[in-house]
Amino acid sequence: MNLITVNEAKCIKCELCIKECPVAFLKMGSHGPEEIENNHCISCGHCTAICPNSAIDNKKSPLEDQIDLKDFTKLSEKQAEYFLRSRRSIRNYKTEPVSREKLTKLIDIARLAPTASNSQGISFIVVQNKQLLEQALEMTIQIIENSPLRHLVEEAIKSYREDGYDSVFRGAPNLIIATSDKNFSNGRNNAISCLTYLELFAPSLGLGSCWAGIFEHCIAIEDSPLLKLFNIPKDKKVVGAVMVGYPKYSYNRLVDRNPLDATFIE
Ligand SMILES: Cc1cc2nc3c(=O)[nH]c(=O)nc-3n(C[C@H](O)[C@H](O)[C@H](O)COP(=O)(O)O)c2cc1C
Repeated sequence: MNLITVNEAKCIKCELCIKECPVAFLKMGSHGPEEIENNHCISCGHCTAICPNSAIDNKKSPLEDQIDLKDFTKLSEKQAEYFLRSRRSIRNYKTEPVSREKLTKLIDIARLAPTASNSQGISFIVVQNKQLLEQALEMTIQIIENSPLRHLVEEAIKSYREDGYDSVFRGAPNLIIATSDKNFSNGRNNAISCLTYLELFAPSLGLGSCWAGIFEHCIAIEDSPLLKLFNIPKDKKVVGAVMVGYPKYSYNRLVDRNPLDATFIE
């Protein structure tokens, strides 16, 4: 396959690349690590990123594309906890549009999330067109009005029909739709991972986000008119959706959830 090259002068045969490879793609040879025939590299980059001497390179995860971590200071335990817990679902947005550049930064982090066997396979549709979102809102409401699950969202229908209130996209100026190939069994799992990265990164760009669950339900219905509205290709399925914009308000406190439910088996 010839994916890897080894700089023999730098390789100290520590075998970290071999131990770290999740798919046993490498073995130690007399001149350093070698590929094992018929095993498949999943492009995760562990072999190149772990090497203490930059001695191994891999065409599927080239060293030249990797960022040196030596100057990165890890967050403290408290910083990490507060970082994670301070992300909230945002349901009140400013009308201010978000630039394409900023939205690109946001989805570019989403693509880096962990996925099953590094399969990735998630594409993003970024909707910035307010009129299109208004059409999608009306269509979504029409679909749920005629859905057997109507009783679950009765309030959302009523507030839209009576006051024009948008409880589907919460007035957000943008919607990010995650799609995958129709027959990709890990599509939904991978999308959840990607969109979780996106949601956690959003506040660092000054942005807020919230899953658009009602919309997701309606676009997942077979032959949903929403598929056509957003030009979703026939061979793709929608595997996640979040609204994005600048938050109108900010939170003052962290909240708790249900008590921890865990079992330790020793
Ligand atoms: C899969 C999923 C679907 C969701 N759908 C909606 C939705 O349609 N509308 C909404 O306002 N919030 C939605 N949420 C946000 C949840 O209500 C929210 O995450 C939860 O109440 C916890 O609040 P927090 O995100 O602010 O911590 C959804 C969240 C997830 C994970």
